[in-house]
Amino acid sequence: MVDLCDGHEGAVVNDGDGTLAEQAQQRQFGPLGTALVIIPTYNEAENIKSIVGRVREAVPEAHVLVADDNSPDGTGKLADELAAEDDQVQVLHRKGKEGLGAAYLAGFRWGIEHGYGVLVEMDADGSHQPEELPRLLTALKGADLVLGSRWVPGGRVVNWPKSREFISRGGSLYSRLALDLPLRDITGGYRAFRKETLEGLGLDEVASQGYCFQVDLARRAVKAGYHVVEVPITFVERELGDSKMSRDILVEALWRVTTWGAAERVGKVLGRGKKA
Ligand code: GDD
Ligand code: MN
Repeated sequence: MVDLCDGHEGAVVNDGDGTLAEQAQQRQFGPLGTALVIIPTYNEAENIKSIVGRVREAVPEAHVLVADDNSPDGTGKLADELAAEDDQVQVLHRKGKEGLGAAYLAGFRWGIEHGYGVLVEMDADGSHQPEELPRLLTALKGADLVLGSRWVPGGRVVNWPKSREFISRGGSLYSRLALDLPLRDITGGYRAFRKETLEGLGLDEVASQGYCFQVDLARRAVKAGYHVVEVPITFVERELGDSKMSRDILVEALWRVTTWGAAERVGKVLGRGKKA
């Protein structure tokens, strides 16, 4: 079996004809600063200790920021206990449930203010395996943004119902076509950004609240000309607690992606008109 988990460059998948890879080879990427792993939580009391412990073990030099939306199940308090016994763990307490996008934006701002050079997105429920993080960070040495990807060769999902896989694959395919993005997993939430990349994305204008936040950032990064690479991951469905995916989150994603796609097409047509 080919080992795709060894952190070598071969683990990085570039889509398209290789032009992007060639361009990246000509670019100099600066050294990576300290990584902050941001873990957004809403009712993850059963998962928080395990995920923070796994991150600390898998990448001991990284720091962790739990961004909790005042979870009714006491996740925030458990996170405080972890922070009290570990200098490399911090907690951002937020007023209430405002969506994944808002929690990440607050976490990114906190991390940039505190001088971190790499900001990582990771779910709390174990779906994004901390043990795979070194591979994402290795890939980031030669990229502006690394996406953990389920839908490139070597990537996969474990224990996902077919219905959920269908929605996720469909969401990525729709986004890929509507927004003309050379990416396979556009909705995924296991990512590593260089600080400079986030600073160049116009985060103040990001309005996406739910999971379409992920599509929004991927789209912004590609349009801004950043070098985005996908690294295969194994996404393991949670064993404890519940997904926060809802109809509203899907509807937001569908209308936002459709609106962005339509705006881009209109922009292209108008641009062409001007040149003629
Ligand atoms: N702070 C905060 N606020 N955290 C939230 C909120 C919120 O409103 N909603 C969800 N989260 C946290 C969860 O506690 C979990 O840590 C993470 O965000 C992902 O939520 P899940 O509910 O486990 O997501 P999922 O498994 O259904 O969806 C996964 O796949 C999506 C589609 O590919 C995630 O990886 C998403 O990031 C991804 O977009
Ligand atoms: Mn999950």
